[in-house]
This record gives sequence, C-alpha cells and structure tokens, in this order.
Amino acid sequence: MQNSGKDGLFFNKIAAGVLTAGLVLWGANRIAHVIIPDEAPEHAALQVAALPSAAPATAPAPSGPESVLPLLASADVAKGQAFVAQQCAACHTLTAGGANGVGPNLYGVLGGPMFAHAGFTYSAAVKSKAKGDWDYDKMNQWLYAPNDFAPGTGMSYSGIHSTQTRADVIAYLRTLAAQPVALPSAAEIKAASAAAAPSAPAEDLNSLLAKADPAKGKALFAQQCAACHAIASGGPNGVGPDLYGIVGAKAFSAPGFAYSDAVKPHAGKPWTPAMLDDWLKAPMSFAPGTHMAYPGIKNDQMRADMIAYLNQNAASPAKLP
Ligand code: HEC
Ligand code: HEC
Repeated sequence: MQNSGKDGLFFNKIAAGVLTAGLVLWGANRIAHVIIPDEAPEHAALQVAALPSAAPATAPAPSGPESVLPLLASADVAKGQAFVAQQCAACHTLTAGGANGVGPNLYGVLGGPMFAHAGFTYSAAVKSKAKGDWDYDKMNQWLYAPNDFAPGTGMSYSGIHSTQTRADVIAYLRTLAAQPVALPSAAEIKAASAAAAPSAPAEDLNSLLAKADPAKGKALFAQQCAACHAIASGGPNGVGPDLYGIVGAKAFSAPGFAYSDAVKPHAGKPWTPAMLDDWLKAPMSFAPGTHMAYPGIKNDQMRADMIAYLNQNAASPAKLP
C-alpha cells in the first residue's frame, strides 16, 4: 500500500491473516512460501468474518453434531435472533419476500424444499444435497458444519458448534414462516436421545490433558499456527502475538501487540487450560469479531495436545494434571 500508515499495516495484517488461514487450511504441506498481497482487500473486516469454512485437514471427521431435538421446545428464540442478526444477516435476508443477497432469503426455509429458493443461484456443491425438505436434523447438520454437509458450498461460514446456540438459531428460523413447522414430538425426542446414548459422554479436560501428547501438539502448531504465531522466548509478534509462556499468562496482554476490540473483555484474565480450551475450540464464538482468522480445533484430544505443547514452551511450565 502506498499510503502505508498505521491503518495500511493493520489491514495488511488482516489480509495476511485471512490469506494464511485459507492457505493453511487448504493444505499447509503444499505451501513453501506465503505470499502476502500488496493491496489489502477492500472489505478486509467482512472477509475476516467470512471465515474459510474448511475444517483443518488433519482433524478427524467429527462424529456429527449433537441433536437439537431435545432443546428446541425450550430454546431461546430471542438469542437465536440476535445471533442470526450478528452472524448471518450480512449474507441472508429474513423477511417474507426479502431479496437474495450473498445467500438466499431464509423466510420459510425450515420445512421448505432444500436449496430451492426462487431466483438464487446455488453452488454445484449443494445441488446434489437438495433432496426433500429442510427438517430439524438436516438443518442441525448443515449449521454445525456447512462445508462438511456439502463440501465446497458457497456458504463461507465455519458453523455453529454450540448445540444450544444451534437450537436457539433453529428455533428462531422456525418462526420465520406464516405457519411454523411443528416442534418435534416426544417420541422423536426420545428416539434422538436414545440414538445419542451409546456414545460415551465427552471426556473432561483434565483426563484429556493427563494423556495429552505434546509432540502431536507441536506438529499441529507447525502446521496450523506457526504462520501467524512465533513461540520463542522474546519471539516477535507476527499476525498474532508470540505465544511463549502463554499458559498461565495474562490473556491478550502481549506487549506491543495490537489486539482486536473483540478480545478486550477477556484481556488480563489468566490463561487457564480451561479457558484456552474454550478459545481454541472456536475463537469466533469465544470472542466474536476476533482477528484470529482460524476456525478452531474441533477434536477434544487435539486441543489438549496443543495446550500441553504450549505449556512446555515456558520458562516454568504449569503443572498440568
Ligand atoms: C458469508 C455469507 C454467509 C453467511 C455468513 C451465512 N450464510 Fe447461509 N448461505 C450462504 C450461501 C452462499 C448459501 C447457498 C449455499 C450454496 O449455494 O452452496 C447459504 C445457504 C444457507 C441455507 C440453505 C438455504 C436454502 O435455500 O435451502 C441456510 C438454511 C443458511 N444458509 C443459513 C445460515 C445461517 C443460519 C447463518 C448464520 C448462522 C448463515 N447461513 C450464514 C451464505 C452465507
Ligand atoms: C491467521 C492467523 C492466525 C492463526 C492461523 C492462528 N492464530 Fe492465534 N491469534 C491470531 C491473532 C491475530 C490473535 C490476536 C486475537 C485478536 O486480537 O483478536 C491470536 C491470539 C491467540 C492467542 C491469545 C494470545 C494472547 O496474547 O493472549 C492464543 C493462545 C492463540 N492465538 C493460539 C493459537 C493457536 C494454538 C493456533 C493454531 C491452532 C493459532 N492461534 C492460529 C492469529 C492467528
């Protein structure tokens, strides 16, 4: 940028972040050099929000989202509405007869035919998935990870990983209709809960940390984090801050690093393993609008491996379980 003032540098950082995140996700192995564009994109901030939706190549395919059926009747429609206003409305209108934007108008979507809104040109990726109507289960899977549901979809959105939030959003989408579809019956809810029962309950963080493998965390770091973060005593800040000694350190407080406003409410709290686990699972949910353009580590054990690795890189590592 010719007029490289502070702003120019800032937007270049974002551009670099978006670019590297995209490339890293696309396949870090294939990248020898990351070329940072000279010109920042015109709408850098929007592009940060529109995350690359591909799951990290190394993360094992998630076993699928938890069912929302048991939560729908008591879901918080107002929260769902607020979430949609914040995360979806840039691409979707919600009112009856609303215009198509980057994505199709969503009025009446639940219960209506899949990927069939009049006048919208869908990607080839979703055309093969357009079978039947949107029911609660399909909507749950789509919103959990659009790019797993329809690899290559034009919906650049990483997904909603909190089951409660998906339930709130779907309960809100349900209200966008002249005649909302029926809530699930008691029998349907029971069937969904029974199907979920055999899978072991999620292990808690402490037991995952107890068997964490820092070497795996190290490999993942080299592949998915090192483009943005140094991790060395006195290391430089890059697109993201240096992470040496981060476990136990004050959050978002590295000297000389310009953090986004999004993370400021968390600044100064100690980085406990539990808080790191939350952050690394889904940075954009932890701090909506964060500059860390990274969708998160979805696998619980891999997050624990990462925390164990981060913990090793400190003058005096914390004692983990
Ligand atoms: C960056 C833009 C973008 C964002 C953000 C986004 N979407 Fe989409 N959405 C799209 C596009 C584009 C499609 C069409 C998909 C395709 O053609 O591959 C789509 C399709 C959909 C569909 C299927 C519609 C149909 O006609 O069957 C639903 C439902 C949906 N989005 C819901 C959401 C919700 C809920 C959110 C927020 C949590 C969201 N989207 C966020 C762009 C977006
Ligand atoms: C595309 C660049 C990018 C990638 C990839 C990335 N980060 Fe970040 N990271 C950032 C930015 C930028 C921030 C500052 C967040 C803000 O200001 O909103 C950050 C902040 C952090 C913080 C908080 C630091 C502090 O000072 O408290 C941690 C911890 C972190 N990242 C870990 C990771 C890990 C682990 C990975 C890989 C799994 C990763 N990051 C991948 C850019 C990135």
